[in-house]
Amino acid sequence: MSATTTLSLKAVIFDAYGTLFDVHSVIAAAEQIFPGRGDALSQLWRQKQIEYTQLRTLADAGGDAAHYRPFWDVTLDALRFSAKKLQLTLGRTAEKRLMDEYACLSAFPDAVPALRLLRDAASGSGSGSKPVSASASRPSPATSSAAGTSGGSRPGLAILSNGNPQMLDVAVKSAGMSGLFDHVLSVDAVRAYKPAPAAYALGTQAFDVDPREIVFVSSNGWDVAGATWFGFTTFWLNRQNAPLEELGVTPHGTGAGMSDLLAFLKTVTFAGRAHVTTSRIRHSPGA
Ligand code: LAC
Repeated sequence: MSATTTLSLKAVIFDAYGTLFDVHSVIAAAEQIFPGRGDALSQLWRQKQIEYTQLRTLADAGGDAAHYRPFWDVTLDALRFSAKKLQLTLGRTAEKRLMDEYACLSAFPDAVPALRLLRDAASGSGSGSKPVSASASRPSPATSSAAGTSGGSRPGLAILSNGNPQMLDVAVKSAGMSGLFDHVLSVDAVRAYKPAPAAYALGTQAFDVDPREIVFVSSNGWDVAGATWFGFTTFWLNRQNAPLEELGVTPHGTGAGMSDLLAFLKTVTFAGRAHVTTSRIRHSPGA
């Protein structure tokens, strides 16, 4: 980016699972079913879920999406594998209970208040934003322009997730997030999982803006790396205090919670990279 180029913030896009929804809120149920093993099951379940998405999309490098399966199916496959790997007998009842838990994951406590603040950041509701449901269809430019990206007085808000539309609809509703987003975007529209560029491109298409004008927020280090490679301005919501992935890419901002994200957004002018350092927020030059 040229130092003389000034871009304004047009939208904030959130990853869903692990960022807004706590995937490990299944631990309590898992612990009841498999005492002493709930945490191990939850951790491996998540790890395999992500691994399977990446494998399937990698295998589809030719572009035919032949190996794509909806995130719900991938999640079930990952649960079944993880139980077998940990030598836990997963009956149909336990499987259904855990998948039901996954459908209605708890939101992180700071998620809804921060989203409401961003949503209400407008001096009135003049953005013209119309909340929409998760959609498997590619957003049309007409929809995008209605989403607060032109003439809106606050940045657009969206989810961009590997979750399939039905999953996201249920998760958003059960987490009390209905009406907070302009777009709930599912990679199902392109049948390719993040970090495929086609998946991230759903965000720029929805708002019809340059990727640098979008702040993409994820708690997943690999997702933040992929989003930075794509060209988004990125914020790593490092909820787990994890080390930075060794991928040679650094997010533009890092913090431990939503309050850090809100502070970061206030500092972002897009006149070059952000360069603000506080005790909790780290800004960096990006990739
Ligand atoms: C998502 C997963 C990657 O919501 O957390 O896309």
